[in-house]
Amino acid sequence: MKENIQTLWQEIQNSTLANPQDLENFRIKYLGTKGIVKELFGELKNVPNDQKKEVGQLLNTFRMQVESFFEENKERLSSASGGAEKLDYSMPGNDEVIGSRHPLSMVRSEIIEIFSRIGYTVSEGPEIEDDWHNFSALNFPPEHPARDMQDTFFVEKGENEMALRTHTSSVQVRVMENSTPPIRTISPGRVYRNEAISARAHCFFHQVEGLYIDKNVSFADLKQTLLYFAKELFGETATIRMRPSYFPFTEPSAEVDVSCTICNSKGCNVCKYTGWLEILGCGMVDPNVLEASGIDSKVYSGFAFGMGIERISQLKYKVNDLRLYSENDVRFLKQFTSEF
Ligand code: DAH
Repeated sequence: MKENIQTLWQEIQNSTLANPQDLENFRIKYLGTKGIVKELFGELKNVPNDQKKEVGQLLNTFRMQVESFFEENKERLSSASGGAEKLDYSMPGNDEVIGSRHPLSMVRSEIIEIFSRIGYTVSEGPEIEDDWHNFSALNFPPEHPARDMQDTFFVEKGENEMALRTHTSSVQVRVMENSTPPIRTISPGRVYRNEAISARAHCFFHQVEGLYIDKNVSFADLKQTLLYFAKELFGETATIRMRPSYFPFTEPSAEVDVSCTICNSKGCNVCKYTGWLEILGCGMVDPNVLEASGIDSKVYSGFAFGMGIERISQLKYKVNDLRLYSENDVRFLKQFTSEF
């Protein structure tokens, strides 16, 4: 009996249980109701009395060894097969829902980026503005139609009548009042006008103002700066043209068109078959404006320009309805992915 147990234990240790079927066969063979262990216990009664105690203990140890051999193998096989079920490397990953930047933020960042490369800083001003900064200091005559109730939202602030700024040119004035030339700055921000909301007009929109003041600044500097800007924004093949215009705060003034990037100037319905797209207004800062902000117009000259962010975005992303920018429809917003 003793030898028999030893041989059996040797045999067990040398056996390999490779799969659940082997495991089950092993259980039946050794631990089943008609298995070897049970059988050996049955034979205990034939062992001579003086050896019974010793053989009994041996048999108990053997049974425990067989049981733990079985348990260890069971665990090994189940964790191996469980692991394989959990990790299916061919399964497609879960989509991460990530947000996107608003197209106006993207265009704004891009404009800032382009001008910061040629030394422009960013400055901001209040959206609720006084008459001086929005109009008077910018050389608007008292009877100018832009001051009219039709265009401007007026608000009461204490004793004073204030306005929601109608353009970011007001920030020019604040910068000039608070710094000494040379000044090179751009001012992005929201502006308001009393207009009925439609695809082509909105009661609020966004502008970027540019200002450069130094000694000997010329119209050629303005033109070159804007050409650089157009090429950075619309690509190396972009060209610009300037048309004479009028703004109270610049003299001379011009409107700037960029060659139509949609049809390569061949003529399409976006450029109305002219090959040109209007993008901004600009000019040499009127000496009256410099003087109003405490800058000596005999020593310094400068240029300014102003553009609508929605307009640039409309050209870059071909969005033709201004209302889309403020409706927060995720189907619209989801289309924009951004590096900025
Ligand atoms: N403030 C003008 C507007 O709202 C845009 C503009 C035109 C700004 C000419 C300028 C400029 O600085 O020189 O339409």
